[in-house]
Amino acid sequence: MGDPPRRFYGGRVETRDLDPADLDVAFDIRTRSFGVIGESSRQNWRAMMLRSIDDQRVLGCYHGAALAAVARINRFDQWWRGRSLPMAGIGGVVVAPEHRGRGVGRLLMRGVLERAAAQGYALSALYPATAPLYRSCGWEFAGSQHLVTAPAEALRGLRAGSVPVRRVGPDDAAEILSVVRGIHAAARTSGPINWEATEVATWLAQDEPFAYLAEDGFLAYHWDDRDLEVDELVAGSGATARALWSLVGSGSSVAKTVTACVGPDDPLRWIIQEPVVSPHREERWMLRLVDVAAALAGRGYPAGVDVEATLEVEDPELPGNSGIWRLTVAKGAGRVERVAAHPGATRVGPRGLAALYAGVPSATLRAASLAGGGDPDTDALLDTVFAGRPYLLDYF
Ligand SMILES: CC(C)(COP(=O)(O)OP(=O)(O)OC[C@H]1O[C@@H](n2cnc3c(N)ncnc32)[C@H](O)[C@@H]1OP(=O)(O)O)[C@@H](O)C(=O)NCCC(=O)NCCS
Repeated sequence: MGDPPRRFYGGRVETRDLDPADLDVAFDIRTRSFGVIGESSRQNWRAMMLRSIDDQRVLGCYHGAALAAVARINRFDQWWRGRSLPMAGIGGVVVAPEHRGRGVGRLLMRGVLERAAAQGYALSALYPATAPLYRSCGWEFAGSQHLVTAPAEALRGLRAGSVPVRRVGPDDAAEILSVVRGIHAAARTSGPINWEATEVATWLAQDEPFAYLAEDGFLAYHWDDRDLEVDELVAGSGATARALWSLVGSGSSVAKTVTACVGPDDPLRWIIQEPVVSPHREERWMLRLVDVAAALAGRGYPAGVDVEATLEVEDPELPGNSGIWRLTVAKGAGRVERVAAHPGATRVGPRGLAALYAGVPSATLRAASLAGGGDPDTDALLDTVFAGRPYLLDYF
C-alpha cells in the first residue's frame, strides 16, 4: 500500500479495529452522516455492530484518541454464474464531517481492503454514495439493484393455478435456502447474496416480511405504506412464478401497486400480458476482486465454452494480485495459473478487472481506458467467458 496523501494529518491517523467502547461515538458519526434513526433501529444497529466487531469486521480511523471514521465488512457469499464465493460487503462507511477532505476516507478503505484480503474474501461489493473514493481503491461499477413496479391487479390476473404454496417462518430457513440455492445454481445466477440460514431465520423472525415457499420457489414481501414491496421472488418453473406473483397480486383490493426487487432478466416481464412492469429505482453497486486467483477459479463460467485467456493485472493496493494470469475455462469451470511474460495478454487494473468480471464488454472497457493490450480475438473470448448481467436483490 502506498503512503497516505500528504495533505493528510501527517501520519497521525491509525486504522485499527473499532473499540466497542467507541460505539456511541461511531453512532454519532453515523447519525451526522446518514440521519437520525429511531431507538429500536439503534438497538439493532448496536447488536449488529457488536457481532461484527467480534469477527474483526469493523475498522475505525483514529486521529490521536479520537475516532474519525468507521467502516464495516458484512460477511456475505455471492453467486457468480451459479457458484457461490465469499464476498466482503462493505457498509456503513462514514468519516466525521470535521475530518473529511483530508484523505481519511481513502485510508479507511485501504484498511478495509487489507482486512478483507486477510480474512480470505475473494470479492468485495458496495453501494457507493460517491464513486471517486472507491474507484481510487479499485472498486468499479458492476451491476444494480433493480426495483420495478407493476399494478397489483395485473399480478393477480396471472392466476395461481394448482401449485401448492405454504406460509413459512424462521424455522424453515434451511428448507428455504435449499430451494433458493437450487434455483440460483440451476439458473446460473450472478449477483445475489447467498444468505446463511441464521440470517434468514433472523430476517423472518421479524413482523415482516411475509414469506411463502413452494417446492421450487420462494417469496418474501412486506407492506410499504398501502402498497406491497417484494424483497425476493425466485421460481424454478413458469407455473410457480405465476403462483407466487399472483399471491402478491391477490392483495390488489388494498394495495394498488407492487414494487419488486428483480433481476434485469426476471421472467416477470415475459409472463405478464401487458407491458406494465416499469422501472422504479436503480441502485448501482461496485465490485472489486480481492483475491484474483480465488475469484477467477471459484466462479462458474458458460458451459460449452472451452477457452484460454491471459490477463495481465496490475493491482497497486493489493500487489499479490499483480502478475500475468492464465485462465483456462472448460465444462463451466475455470482454472487459474500464473505465467511468465505473455505479449498478447489483456492488461487491466483492479477497476477494469472488476468490470470485466461483471460482464462489461471489452469494447466498453477499452473506450473507458479500463483495458489495454490484447487483441480483438482475445476480446471476443473474454466477452464470452464473462458474459452476464449481475444484480443484487439486497441493499446493504
Ligand atoms: C464520502 C466520505 C466517506 C469521504 O470521506 P473523506 O475522508 O472526505 O474522503 P477523502 O478525503 O479520503 O477523499 C477521497 C477521494 O474521494 C473524493 N471525495 C470525497 N468526498 C466526496 C464527495 N462527497 N463527492 C465526490 N468525491 C468525494 C475526494 O475528492 C478524494 O478524491 P481526490 O483525492 O481525487 O480528490 C465522507 O464524505 C462521508 O462520510 N460522507 C457521508 C457519508 C457517506 O456518504 N458515506 C459513503 C457511503 S457509501
